[in-house]
Amino acid sequence: MTDDIAARTPASGLPAPSGGYVGDPAVRAEWDNRYAERQQLWSGRPNGALVAEAAGLAPGRVLDVGCGEGADALWLARGGWDVTALDVSGVALDRAAGHARDAGLSVRWVHAGLAEAALPPASFDLVSAQYPALLRTPDAVAERALLAAVAPGGVLLFVHHAGMDTRQAHDGDFDPADYIWPSTVAALLDDDWSVEVDERRPRDLPPGGAGAHHTDDLVLRVRRLR
Ligand SMILES: C[S@@+](CC[C@H](N)C(=O)[O-])C[C@H]1O[C@@H](n2cnc3c(N)ncnc32)[C@H](O)[C@@H]1O
Repeated sequence: MTDDIAARTPASGLPAPSGGYVGDPAVRAEWDNRYAERQQLWSGRPNGALVAEAAGLAPGRVLDVGCGEGADALWLARGGWDVTALDVSGVALDRAAGHARDAGLSVRWVHAGLAEAALPPASFDLVSAQYPALLRTPDAVAERALLAAVAPGGVLLFVHHAGMDTRQAHDGDFDPADYIWPSTVAALLDDDWSVEVDERRPRDLPPGGAGAHHTDDLVLRVRRLR
């Protein structure tokens, strides 16, 4: 569905507080402000790592975590996937839903933080998180939410900017220890998971959009066996 009601409804279908958003208000405000600074923040093109990795997958149910302005979600919907796309930013989701409407594409938009979204467990054939900026907690809530959403036989594709995970923290600056990375997800895998890809590779750079200075990706693709 491509309407604003879906964009304001948590995945569980339960009524949500604060205008439909479920999640940390500070995280929502930070990202809303970032999106509001520009008419368009990202390139509008699907991420190259997603295009490459999804190519061999049969379309099914997909969850796009931190979907932003929706380029990946729309590309997946065009490819026949049943798409649920989630983000903390209502500004980004409004843009994404507008693009979907213009294109006549059907996407289920969820305005929520990943950890708070009450996603149906084990229900997605593909969970895609592309540069998702998810905060790290001592109990690894974000990593566990990503893994829990994958159906048996399904795939988690987690892509991030190479080098950011090892950057030195400076006062008041970005600290990689505050975020989850492919390595923190991989650290939680047990015998129920098979690692299909865990590598650094050159990024297929889309023209335009913020973040174009990141030239390499960390790509983690893992399959849930049972
Ligand atoms: C770097 S952007 C990437 C956007 C998109 N995946 C892309 O590649 O264009 C990170 C996105 O994660 C979203 N985000 C941040 N924290 C989140 C959370 N806890 N749950 C869901 N989305 C979150 C932000 O609003 C933002 O849209």
